[in-house]
Amino acid sequence: MTDVTTTANASTAVTAATDGAMRALGRALAGLSRAGDLLILSGPLGAGKTTLTQGLGRGLGVRGSVTSPTFVISRVHPSLVGGPSLVHVDAYRLGGPDEIDDIDLDMTLPDSVTVVEWGEGVAEGLSDDRLEIRIERHADDSRTVHLTPVGRRWAGVALPVAVDDENTED
Ligand SMILES: Nc1ncnc2c1ncn2[C@@H]1O[C@H](COP(=O)(O)OP(=O)(O)OP(=O)(O)O)[C@@H](O)[C@H]1O
Ligand SMILES: [Mg+2]
Repeated sequence: MTDVTTTANASTAVTAATDGAMRALGRALAGLSRAGDLLILSGPLGAGKTTLTQGLGRGLGVRGSVTSPTFVISRVHPSLVGGPSLVHVDAYRLGGPDEIDDIDLDMTLPDSVTVVEWGEGVAEGLSDDRLEIRIERHADDSRTVHLTPVGRRWAGVALPVAVDDENTED
């Protein structure tokens, strides 16, 4: 298991120097996640949104590999361990909040962990409680991942503040 330092009641910023660190952060977030949770991912093209979601899927113990779907907007990965499914959404091609309503995420939300790539400004209406995850990409190819808890669900939840890059096995 990767060593992860956490803190409660605050936004955090985690440095992820490699894609392995990004997956490790995803696994750490899986450990905090439960059915009904909404995670909104933002950051520029190639920021690492799918990579983080891969770690999340691994941590949740879901079926299938998490990929960037070309033609699919939403994909459900059922749990292999009796936990919540992972619903992985890529909102890149969606026009806005009205179009996200059309894919009926509210049907799967209660029993799943729902992750929306390119979700900023689009997916907030799905839930008052959400974890907003904004990935910043630096010139040296490292990333800073900003985690912002929104709503009562995340109040008091100790969020990662660091991920140990020494131990980032997939
Ligand atoms: N922390 C990191 N440090 C270095 N490279 C990373 C990091 N995170 C991801 N990468 C690499 O960046 C590339 C893009 O990652 P990924 O596909 O996850 O980005 P994305 O934000 O989902 O992209 P898109 O905008 O196309 O959906 C991949 O090659 C991945 O291995
Ligand atoms: Mg992606």
